[in-house]
Amino acid sequence: MTTLNRRSFLQLAAAFGATAAWGTSLSAASAIPWRERRDLYPEGVASAEPHSDSILLWTRHAPLDSPAKLTVELAEDSAFQKVIASAHAPVSGASDWTTRVLIGNLKPSRTHFYRFTDAAGNGSRIGRTLTAPTPDDSRPVRFAFVSCQNANDGAQNAYRRMIYEDERAPDTDKLGFVLHLGDFIYELVWYPEDRPQGMYDRRIRDLVRYAHGEKIDDFHIPTTVDDYRAVYRAYLHDPDLQDARARFPFVNMWDNHEFSWKGWQAVQNFDGKNRPAQTRKVAAMQAFFEYQPARMARPNSASLDQFDPPKVADAAITRFDDHGLGQEPNNLAAVASLKGYRSLRYGRNVDLIITDQRSYRSEEPTDRPEAVAFTDKAFPQLLPQEAMEILDAGRAYNSNRPPGSIRFG
Ligand SMILES: [Fe+2]
Repeated sequence: MTTLNRRSFLQLAAAFGATAAWGTSLSAASAIPWRERRDLYPEGVASAEPHSDSILLWTRHAPLDSPAKLTVELAEDSAFQKVIASAHAPVSGASDWTTRVLIGNLKPSRTHFYRFTDAAGNGSRIGRTLTAPTPDDSRPVRFAFVSCQNANDGAQNAYRRMIYEDERAPDTDKLGFVLHLGDFIYELVWYPEDRPQGMYDRRIRDLVRYAHGEKIDDFHIPTTVDDYRAVYRAYLHDPDLQDARARFPFVNMWDNHEFSWKGWQAVQNFDGKNRPAQTRKVAAMQAFFEYQPARMARPNSASLDQFDPPKVADAAITRFDDHGLGQEPNNLAAVASLKGYRSLRYGRNVDLIITDQRSYRSEEPTDRPEAVAFTDKAFPQLLPQEAMEILDAGRAYNSNRPPGSIRFG
């Protein structure tokens, strides 16, 4: 195991847009006059991406008149009599009042408690988190995975069950982390009046109204970073989701809906038509960075509180490399603005390889205009299996010899 020194740790934290705090082996009682004011931290707290010696912490303060610093404390006990790390974390409108702190020099396989306090002594709720076991620790690993939590359709009460079971489990059976595979938000939102008939026999919940949204068919999509931020806030107001983020470290990755329903690279697809959406891809990445703590590099920025979005334009993407990646400069800048793929080592038994299945992928072949020929009006969502297999394998079909034309029926 390599030991992270303090200098490289500071550089690492800056690359993730996080304030660095170095843990100490000498604990001390908190000297902060913390009074819990959950109304001033309406999206709660979160921790993310546990390593054996470090953890990422997150919160959002309600908007203030000017940029400020919060004090973050990490302790071995929930009464904060044994504080082992603290730091000042910046909040400002540039990151929608969110902040990230990477705490290092921690002991492995430990439970910790953390909280944030503003200059007036107004404090966040207390979060609980866990460090990972050492890479040579052979004990079994327990984690939960979740995805696809459409709060427009229903509450997030599956998290309540997760918390209930974990609180009652023996220590050896408690979860180490929650792996979120994406679709943490659904950017595509119905307003209740758009679907009075509801969805799947459920009424539509009035989740969020986009200030700059675009209406397509009977749903609304975000067009600006403020719209994407609004939908994250709406999700985090679900009490079960917020309690889960305060209890477990999460490992966060996006799927499609963090950007766009049928999105690929920086392209949106609605009503069967592609449209360049570099500005929206960057907006989606910025809101993800702000609301989902993760060890993701930002090549454009070393700021601790600003994403520093690359300036892009929605330009047509016409030239693709051999892997199908659009070479249009705004497309490349947008997909590179936040590097989502990474790995996480968790004890001896888990090496988690987190891939990005959206930012670099080619267009869905069945969405291409040519694919209309495959669809049958009587069965509009179905394709012949043989055609699907050929399309799915692409160039690799039949040992790299795909057919020039596809016959079926
Ligand atoms: Fe999904």
